[in-house]
Amino acid sequence: MRSVLGSIMGGTTEFAGNFVPRDECVVSFFDSTVCVGTGRGVDEGRGPCACPLVHRSAHRGQAQGPLHTPRHPLSLRKDEELRQREAAFHMGSTVQEDILQQLEALHREAEAALAQANSSETTQAWHSEYLGRKGRLTGILRNLGSLAPEERPLVGKVANEIKVALEQALQERQAAIAQAELEAMRRAESVDVTLPGRPQTLGKLHITTRMLRDIYKIFAEMGFQVYESPEVETDEYNFQLLNMPPGHPARDMWDTFYTTTPGQLLRTHTSPGQVHAMRQYAPQPIRVIVPGKVYRYEQVTARSESMFYQVEGLAVGKHITFSDLKGVLMNYANQMYGEGREARFRKSYFPFTEPSVEMDIDCVICNRKGCPICKYTGWLEILGAGMVQPLVLQYNGYDPTEFSGFAFGMGPERMALQKYGIDDIRYFYSNDVRLLERV
Ligand code: DAH
Repeated sequence: MRSVLGSIMGGTTEFAGNFVPRDECVVSFFDSTVCVGTGRGVDEGRGPCACPLVHRSAHRGQAQGPLHTPRHPLSLRKDEELRQREAAFHMGSTVQEDILQQLEALHREAEAALAQANSSETTQAWHSEYLGRKGRLTGILRNLGSLAPEERPLVGKVANEIKVALEQALQERQAAIAQAELEAMRRAESVDVTLPGRPQTLGKLHITTRMLRDIYKIFAEMGFQVYESPEVETDEYNFQLLNMPPGHPARDMWDTFYTTTPGQLLRTHTSPGQVHAMRQYAPQPIRVIVPGKVYRYEQVTARSESMFYQVEGLAVGKHITFSDLKGVLMNYANQMYGEGREARFRKSYFPFTEPSVEMDIDCVICNRKGCPICKYTGWLEILGAGMVQPLVLQYNGYDPTEFSGFAFGMGPERMALQKYGIDDIRYFYSNDVRLLERV
């Protein structure tokens, strides 16, 4: 940037006048010969002025040209004016020169400081320091009163031009900083839309849920409806109506959680669902599956949990035979584990079925070669089943001489363990998502 003082010396003729007291504007700097302090001419050959101000010419004791030439500003030609300005500058008082030098130094310093400012905050601080009401430029101009009235306009003009120049520089700097800040923000917050998206981890249904849905689908095709039955049961429904009166030794097969209400317990199996269904539908024929949670007061191990799922099945009608049971279960095994599975029925005992069986299929993991999942037997036990005990039919609304039925009960977790070769039932409810990744 061009020096303001330089531009004045180079002949700038605008006059902003901000810092020049109005009533003093009439006194031109170029006629500067009258002391502000005494009001008399300082270079009239009468020696130094008596006022406390230091006048350059008086100080040096030498006159520098015709100081009293009457001036007619409008009639002055431009080059003459310039010459006079220059002369006046050189002839100005020491105080005036000092102030002009201070202004020039301030200008340079302010410019340098502004170049260092690199944020909105620092430019604001810069503004208050140099241009603010209590800033340094104003500070210098406070000394204006120590100048002869005719010296003031030039100082005022220079100060004003410095002010304008600095304000202009400030604006440019602020714009540059704002631009840089914007650029930095853009760089920091930019989004590369060409980058490939982040893969989303897809959720998965829990294995038990998937097993249950597969079971529902297979049995739905064979005409079985899903029947819901309570998890909190009575001793009567969980045992007695299933042919297990109090004290019946078969009750030992189910370690039971009892509630504090006498006769109330958490169901140990879904078989009480048979009782509910029969009591609701008798004497209509029934074909239902009863899925849900059951609870056992058991030590939790790799093979047993205290809470797990069961799916009960019940068909009641006229002329239902064991062949129907076999046909339904074989169809189920083929659909669940794949066509061509071998199955075997072993005799068993349940108080609510007669005869009772357990159904095994050939091990889906080792194809009967023997593995830890089938405990090297080559067979997997998948469910218990049988023909509904006549007493159970009778207790629950069906005449056993007219009606017959079959029932079965399976554990979806057990079947999932077998199907997917999972070695520990505790994975199912320990909330470890790695289980979901396995299947
Ligand atoms: N309720 C039996 C249990 O929890 C499973 C069962 C076996 C259910 C035979 C049946 C059945 O309906 O006929 O071990």
